Amino acid sequence: MAAPHPQTAPSGGFWRAVDERLGISALRYEVPEHAQGLAYSLGGVSLVGFAVLVLSGIWLAQFYDPMPQHVRASMDSILREAPGGFFLRNLHYWAANVVMVTVLLHLLRVLFTGGFKRPREGNWLVGVGLLAATVGLVFTGTVLKWDQEALEALQHNVEAAELLGGIGTFFSPQFAERIPLLTRIFTAHVSVLPALLAVLLAVHLLLIKLHGLAPSAFASRSAATRKTAGEPTRANFLQHLGVVGAYGLVGLGGLVFLSAALPAQLGPVPVEGVEVTKPWWPFLPLFALENWIGLRGLVWAGAALFLALALVPLLDRSPYLHPSRRVAFLVIYGLLALALVGLGLYAKFAPGGVHLG
Ligand code: HEM
Repeated sequence: MAAPHPQTAPSGGFWRAVDERLGISALRYEVPEHAQGLAYSLGGVSLVGFAVLVLSGIWLAQFYDPMPQHVRASMDSILREAPGGFFLRNLHYWAANVVMVTVLLHLLRVLFTGGFKRPREGNWLVGVGLLAATVGLVFTGTVLKWDQEALEALQHNVEAAELLGGIGTFFSPQFAERIPLLTRIFTAHVSVLPALLAVLLAVHLLLIKLHGLAPSAFASRSAATRKTAGEPTRANFLQHLGVVGAYGLVGLGGLVFLSAALPAQLGPVPVEGVEVTKPWWPFLPLFALENWIGLRGLVWAGAALFLALALVPLLDRSPYLHPSRRVAFLVIYGLLALALVGLGLYAKFAPGGVHLG
């Protein structure tokens, strides 16, 4: 009798059979020990947040009608009639806040520990693209709820597109006159931007796998200390996933609590021709500049900020990771970050100016 083919021969144990087919144990490759800290898990935690946003967003989209004449009625039906709609809208709102925070903290961690240095410069730029897609999702999301703040955000979009001339055409109502801009913003929020984010994310993760995690900026101390104590200095990727999952679960608990305790606001039905609201917190620093120099401030400062981020790998090209050897660079970007926080606080408490029209 012919011997069975080695690949079809029975092999012992259920988990072994599953592993043979799904290759789970291949994920047990070594990662540096510092991967297990929260600072180096913030990218993974952002991913967990995105998963919450996608799942809750799919549910909300079943009940949302993006035609301007129906949108408010559909918002009311999400809040009052759709199963779980009230809670899931709150969850979507809070998850968006948390993801925005974790993405920014992740960016700051990479900046502070020099994680963008050779050979990771390209992945830093992919990260800048991910930030742009995230901000785009936050902006389009604010417009969809269609209250006064949403209308004013949409009008900012229209006037900024006008200011940009030819480059702004795609974002103007004239680009597709038969389809209302609100409806196109819905398409951007549920398909264009998530698809862009997914592609960039795939490249980001592939490059992380290719290069491995950057060495710790504080490696010499922590590795030596751990060796002296006889502790292992490496971990494996499955353990890292476990750590990210644990942080993710704690975060999810926090989100559920926030969603139950502090419902997302929905302002009054929008009225054209008045400007009485302030934008969501990530846009407050730009709003402050608008107060001083008009809508131009929003457009040019936004572009300058992304340019400043894109230039990071060019401006800090030394081989050093430890902050004490990169003082000038860190002071400049630290001051920029402080200026943004200051502008945001100013905009929060100062009276809002008139920027439109
Ligand atoms: C939009 C969401 C993002 C997700 C889900 C994400 C995900 C990740 C993950 C899982 C890692 C592995 C290490 C870690 O978790 O810290 C990582 C590393 C990295 N990320 Fe992101 N990231 C995002 C945005 C960004 C942004 C905005 C930047 C910078 C502008 C950036 C730049 C980098 C770089 C350069 C690395 C490699 C650094 C190292 O090896 O230490 N990422 N990212």
